[in-house]
Amino acid sequence: MFTQTQVDRFQQLETPFYFYDLNLLQQTLNECYEAAVQYNYHVHYALKANFNTKVLEAMQKVGFGADCVSGNEVKAAIAHGFANSKVVFAGVGKSDKEINAALDADIFCFNCESVQELQVINELAVAKGKTARVAIRINPNVDAHTHHYITTGLEENKFGINTWQLEDVLETLKGSNNLEFIGVHFHVGSQILNMDVFKNLCLRVNELQDWFEEHGFAIKVLNVGGGLGVDYYHPDTNAVCDFKTYFKIFRDFLKVKQGQEVHFELGRALVAQCATLVSRVLYVKNGQKKNFLILDAGMTELIRPMLYQAYHHIQNLSKGEQLTATYDVVGPICESTDCFRTDVQLPESQRGDLIAIRTAGAYGEVMASGYNLRDRVQSVYAE
Ligand code: LLP
Repeated sequence: MFTQTQVDRFQQLETPFYFYDLNLLQQTLNECYEAAVQYNYHVHYALKANFNTKVLEAMQKVGFGADCVSGNEVKAAIAHGFANSKVVFAGVGKSDKEINAALDADIFCFNCESVQELQVINELAVAKGKTARVAIRINPNVDAHTHHYITTGLEENKFGINTWQLEDVLETLKGSNNLEFIGVHFHVGSQILNMDVFKNLCLRVNELQDWFEEHGFAIKVLNVGGGLGVDYYHPDTNAVCDFKTYFKIFRDFLKVKQGQEVHFELGRALVAQCATLVSRVLYVKNGQKKNFLILDAGMTELIRPMLYQAYHHIQNLSKGEQLTATYDVVGPICESTDCFRTDVQLPESQRGDLIAIRTAGAYGEVMASGYNLRDRVQSVYAE
């Protein structure tokens, strides 16, 4: 919810912008940290969800590591004070340039996604006279029961190494003197609300780690990825995720051996609720069958509804609570798909009204584009 003072302030500002509540962010991080630390779990924040400077500073301060998926994310993490020894580099297509930079930075670990990638990292490490720590990303074939665009753990996916290729992996590791195998990595998908998915993941990890050990490979790190979902429907009443229940699933079902570390890579659950996309109504267009609310924000600022049919709660901040009208809420971009949602119940709205699109902190600002030569979206912080 927003205070009248905040709405008055928004009124003075140029729209659209992302509005950040850094207090809520801090509260979320504290709750996550407390819930994880009691089991000695380590959280690496997945920068891809949001790499806003203030967000990164808060993540680093609370003591999280960084989960990066590009050379620039590795650079950004280090520039924001994350210790090199807490940076992991994942991704299915790391370029030679990115690998070399990460080797120079002596990051904690590369999460590797193919046999060929292992060979390339080894060659590049040999050329530098370095040893690269590697974890093997395994495709556990666990169904995340989430949108098919953001499910990653099934066999037909481009991510990870399938279990039938693991013999090859071990052969490659044995022949690669400049690779140090440290563990296994999994990530089954994003926006997961069904805790059974994480339980199934744990059971699969237990089997797979036994397999490695039977083949003479000791596992130091079990990285179980991220994926915890948030409540897009109730951003005010459910602003912070239930981290306790989430970590307890792993506590109850994941077999952790003496000396092993358990790593998590949370993105969305840490940042989704702390930002709102604030926009203005440019025009109200009344048709015969539909009324359109045309906003000054569109898919160039927040693409999730258009790309994944994702629900974001939409509110008119300039009018009361009476939902007496129905609109298709659309953006200004020259694409029919530039629609936040059809048939949205809102108060009777007019040109100039402020519209809030909630739970936009994860995969919002970072996925903004310059399509139609739009201005870069601005960030505003709660005072
Ligand atoms: N680790 C790996 C290997 C990942 O691929 C991801 C997300 C994460 C961790 C963090 O997952 P999270 O905790 O945020 O669910 N743009 C989409 C989401 C893409 C997720 C990509 N991978 C969206 O807007 O819903």
